[in-house]
Amino acid sequence: PLVSMKEMLEKGKENHYAVGQFNLNNLEYTQAILQAAEEEKSPVILGVSEGAARYMGGFKVVVAMVEALIEEYGITVPVAIHLDHGSSYEACAKAIHAGFTSVMIDASALPLDENIAVTKKVVELAHFHGVSVEAELGRVGGQEDDLIVDDAEAMYAIPEECDRLVRETGVDCFAPALGSVHGPYKGEPNLGFDGMEEVMKLTGVPLVLHGGTGIPTKDIQRAISLGTAKINVNTENQINQTKAIREVLNNDLDVYDPRKYLGPGRDAIKETVIGKMREFGSSQKA
Ligand code: G3H
Ligand code: ZN
Repeated sequence: PLVSMKEMLEKGKENHYAVGQFNLNNLEYTQAILQAAEEEKSPVILGVSEGAARYMGGFKVVVAMVEALIEEYGITVPVAIHLDHGSSYEACAKAIHAGFTSVMIDASALPLDENIAVTKKVVELAHFHGVSVEAELGRVGGQEDDLIVDDAEAMYAIPEECDRLVRETGVDCFAPALGSVHGPYKGEPNLGFDGMEEVMKLTGVPLVLHGGTGIPTKDIQRAISLGTAKINVNTENQINQTKAIREVLNNDLDVYDPRKYLGPGRDAIKETVIGKMREFGSSQKA
């Protein structure tokens, strides 16, 4: 069931639901997310940032872990292993050669022409290997691992530029930054739905919404109705996992077996992911 994102996102776009990308931080995340997907009969995207891959021991370790769990758990739903916010052609190439089935090249900090040039190179290599590609224009605010974008740098994507990038590169899906933020929002998010509609009309590819944590359900539904077929969630799992672990540690000052607190943390991730799959409409779609 290890596949690229291409088919699952096209199906999502066609049938008006979004597939969740849930980021991996360690073994427990991988277990929880795969089990949630299988129970919900939902396609799923395992997002891996370069920082998280480094933490887990590298791209090859991640692929081996995912493949082993898929086998041990008897996972039947479609699963993609996706490099999240790949920072360079080299990083994408390394992930592809390690067995990732999908990559994001995030050259959104570069001028448009350079973004297009590097994205095109990644698409060439990726498609040769049957791997799907996501690109970004504009800048998602907030912080995710090594990627920090302050308020002044956060930018709304310009639809005409998005159209050019998608047409010239042949990416499989596209993330126009339209006001979403990594990490918790300060107040209500202010998503650029007009821009989203415009980008959808111009490009026709499945759209990606980053910064899924803290977006109200009505905005999620509106984004999906405008062609968003992939929604990324990381922080919400981290918050709920940490809350569960903190509760165990606070309630039992003598506990020292990590399984006694990492287990409940894992349950919290699974429950969070199941909730998102239902909210995004991907449950029972595998
Ligand atoms: O690329 C990952 C996502 O955009 C995660 O955003 O941590 O705010 O849920 P989040
Ligand atoms: Zn992101």
